[in-house]
Amino acid sequence: MGVSRRTVLAAGFGGLALVAAGGAWRVTRLPTTAFEPWDLDPTPPTDIRLDAFRHAILAPNPHNRQPWVIRLVGEDEAIITCDLDRRLPVTDPFDRQTTIGFGTFLETARIAAEERGVAMEIDPFPHGSDDAVLDARPVAALRFVENGAARDPLFGQIVRRRSNKEEYDLSRAVADTDLSQIVAAGGGYTNDPERVSVLRDEIVTAIETEMTTHAANMESVELMRIGHREVDANPDGIELYGPIIEAGKLAGMVNREALADTDSTGFQQGLEMMRATYGSIPALIWIATLSNSREDQLEAGRQYVRANLQATALGLGMHPMSQSLQEYRAVQPMFARVHELLGVGAGERVQMLARVGYGPETGPTPRWPLESHIA
Ligand SMILES: Cc1cc2nc3c(=O)[nH]c(=O)nc-3n(C[C@H](O)[C@H](O)[C@H](O)COP(=O)(O)O)c2cc1C
Repeated sequence: MGVSRRTVLAAGFGGLALVAAGGAWRVTRLPTTAFEPWDLDPTPPTDIRLDAFRHAILAPNPHNRQPWVIRLVGEDEAIITCDLDRRLPVTDPFDRQTTIGFGTFLETARIAAEERGVAMEIDPFPHGSDDAVLDARPVAALRFVENGAARDPLFGQIVRRRSNKEEYDLSRAVADTDLSQIVAAGGGYTNDPERVSVLRDEIVTAIETEMTTHAANMESVELMRIGHREVDANPDGIELYGPIIEAGKLAGMVNREALADTDSTGFQQGLEMMRATYGSIPALIWIATLSNSREDQLEAGRQYVRANLQATALGLGMHPMSQSLQEYRAVQPMFARVHELLGVGAGERVQMLARVGYGPETGPTPRWPLESHIA
């Protein structure tokens, strides 16, 4: 899946300084309502389910589509389904990554419920599932049981967690002790420079392939929210904002057509930036499953968000890079080599691959408010 192009156009639009100078009041505006769901009211809702879900909607998820639909049932149950209009048919043809994003959502809800002394029981796909595609059947049925459940130490990281897509400090190694803590819930890691180097080649080739494969690139372009107004109006997808973007938009240089055109300067700069960030790998972690069932995918999501929260607790950035794990034809050579290089067993499926390192702090990404997820 896609990439954040927040700063794609950060360089090379020097001419826009004039526009920026003339219209500073217009170009310095930032999105506002898009980030409100991160600003949790210190008084939690009395319904424990709503407390769990206001945290769960902050979970990492592919292309930030937030496809979670919540139906509250009775006093202590909920049914979770997928908004089928929010899938990613090109880069996620079997809804594998979308399902992983339900795993991150469920685990985050579970951690938040425990903070209130309530266990969240998860019945995955209670009416069965289809391996080829998600459908209207529930992804999970949940029951909240007050039993004085032990608190999870990762709770405090939920609002601090990010997918950190910046370049990392390559002079700072990531310690084995930290990496093994990060994958404590499941997964492997490497900080061996030689192993990282061969994997880096595949990872970078895969992102280049995604950006230069028309259908895959267009899936990203169509989800771009360009400028603060679009980000606030549709707080999901790939957010592009900040003075350079606003100035480029005003000047008619930053728009979907330009970003879709692989010959444009903006696109070429974006590709360069992706090579730089995806190639900035002090260490890698991955999560693999023995088979590739829907339940496996949910479990991978649960493990991944725990890894991301643990990295946050340790002051480390984490950035998933999924292109070499995807199913469409153009990336199959990278898919095969990454599986081979990671040395997973026959039949095992790598579900998540992420770089880990020390990077600059980043802000949160947009979210729809909780109310919009309640059916
Ligand atoms: C299954 C899955 C796959 C992802 N793949 C990528 C990826 O290939 N590239 C990327 O930049 N981010 C990837 N992400 C991160 C999402 O873009 C990110 O979670 C989302 O934009 C929300 O941002 P946040 O995690 O900072 O809250 C992935 C996340 C998940 C759960």
